[in-house]
Amino acid sequence: MRHRCFFAGARWLVACSSGDDASDPRNGHDPGLDIELVSGHDVAPSHAAGENCMACHRARGNAPGRFTAAGTIFGTSLVATAVQLVGLDGEVVAELELDASGNFYTTEPLPIPEEAVVPRILGRDGAMIGVMPFPTVSAACNLCHAGSARLEFDAR
Ligand code: HEC
Ligand code: HEC
Repeated sequence: MRHRCFFAGARWLVACSSGDDASDPRNGHDPGLDIELVSGHDVAPSHAAGENCMACHRARGNAPGRFTAAGTIFGTSLVATAVQLVGLDGEVVAELELDASGNFYTTEPLPIPEEAVVPRILGRDGAMIGVMPFPTVSAACNLCHAGSARLEFDAR
């Protein structure tokens, strides 16, 4: 049923797959992509380490899940294990485990961009091994942390 709608054109795809809301502004975006995804140590390793995940995993994007925060921590034997996002009031608003690719991601709602967060990197024992020296309203981490600015934590 659904692919019939698809071949009938983008407006019909929206009308058919999102019920009666024909005014849905996501024109042509497959609502089947709107799934929840959160990285974890025991979640299957993801791809594209180092790339800006939100180039694709975004609203009206063509990848599953609209990431609110995502990025990559490079390093030998995953010295870093998780990323924390901390509000300016000190409250931890997200803690994202790295997967075996060094990637972290979530589709959970976050207070950004309305409120800034300070990213922290946690090591094996849960201790903080890195912190961004100023707050950010973007958690598309790899947008800035690319090339020589990539996030990397190695054993000393
Ligand atoms: C160029 C576009 C693009 C970029 C950049 C990209 N992805 Fe993806 N991603 C996709 C597409 C398309 C799929 C679905 C097909 C597939 O699995 O390859 C996907 C699948 C996934 C999945 C599996 C989703 C599921 O249904 O289980 C995860 C997790 C994921 N990506 C995480 C990431 C992370 C983390 C980054 C950044 C480090 C990233 N992606 C960068 C396009 C992209
Ligand atoms: C708008 C650009 C931008 C975004 C987005 C951004 N950062 Fe940063 N970050 C910087 C800059 C600039 C610095 C300081 C220069 C440096 O140390 O590379 C920095 C520094 C850091 C540092 C300290 C550097 C180190 O190696 O210890 C960490 C950790 C960090 N960022 C983590 C993150 C994480 C995690 C995210 C995503 C939640 C993120 N950043 C998003 C620009 C950004």
